[in-house]
Amino acid sequence: MDLGIRGRVALIGASGRGLGLATATRLAMEGCHIAICDKDTAVLEGALAQVKAAATSTGETIKAFAYPVDLTSAQDIDRLAADVRRDLGPVGILVTNSGGPPPGGFEEATDEKWVFAYSLTFLSAVRLIRAVLPDMKAQKWGRIINFTSRSLREPIPNLIISNSVRLAVGGMAKTLAGEVAKYGITVNNVCPGPTTTDRAIELAKARAAKKGISYDEEMAATVKGIPLGRLAKPEEQAAAVAFLCSEPAGYVTGISLLVDGGAVQAL
Ligand SMILES: NC(=O)c1ccc[n+]([C@@H]2O[C@H](COP(=O)([O-])OP(=O)(O)OC[C@H]3O[C@@H](n4cnc5c(N)ncnc54)[C@H](OP(=O)(O)O)[C@@H]3O)[C@@H](O)[C@H]2O)c1
Repeated sequence: MDLGIRGRVALIGASGRGLGLATATRLAMEGCHIAICDKDTAVLEGALAQVKAAATSTGETIKAFAYPVDLTSAQDIDRLAADVRRDLGPVGILVTNSGGPPPGGFEEATDEKWVFAYSLTFLSAVRLIRAVLPDMKAQKWGRIINFTSRSLREPIPNLIISNSVRLAVGGMAKTLAGEVAKYGITVNNVCPGPTTTDRAIELAKARAAKKGISYDEEMAATVKGIPLGRLAKPEEQAAAVAFLCSEPAGYVTGISLLVDGGAVQAL
């Protein structure tokens, strides 16, 4: 399928590694100009090289830039948006994404953690959208995709903060989808289940060590509730995002697309 997005400018949050980088790489393969960003500046150079190589592999000629950013900072996001506009032009595709909120149950969730997660997960999405929306309205075209989690549909034990703040993103996105549809802008969420990013693998190893079991045993327990019998690959999450960014997806807005191997049982 031709996604019809060659030449569009795409800004992807927290894209130095993991789901963000997989998405940047996928959109580069479609011929989008790419802005990646991350708090971890050490990974940006390698990530940018991967993005450019991906475009080359499909015969696309793109521009791509990398920016350091702390997505909990309003000033950083404003600066990022201005820099991307200067280097690449008006953003047409925005993928909001950031690090995960602190894990734990209710009694471990201090005010400090709640406020941090609200800023990291919810406000970062709001601020990124606010920064690019005027240019999307002017283009009369836009694609906003928020990376959330399957917890948007079904809370995950021991992730009370994540379960809560991701619902705020879902509520905001659904309402915004109705407000901006008249400008040709769609707003959707991609809701990943467990995915084999480096970070997810590190976390699984840490959980296994804490429980005194092997990594393979921990993974077997995770996979147990997944009908497809395995974790997702980052590229599979990115493919879902790429479809929602596409021209053929122009009539899809306000949805939350589960990419979880069938794990969530809710209809
Ligand atoms: N992978 C999964 O199984 C899965 C499933 C469902 C939902 N998710 C969610 O999807 C998102 C991405 O997950 P991932 O697995 O791709 O994570 P990841 O591999 O850890 O990548 C996240 C990137 O974001 C960066 N980051 C963290 N805080 C930031 C900030 N304030 N400003 C800018 N960059 C920041 C991280 O840098 P540092 O390394 O320096 O922190 C890291 O490079 C997370 O919210 C995660 O909870 C993941």
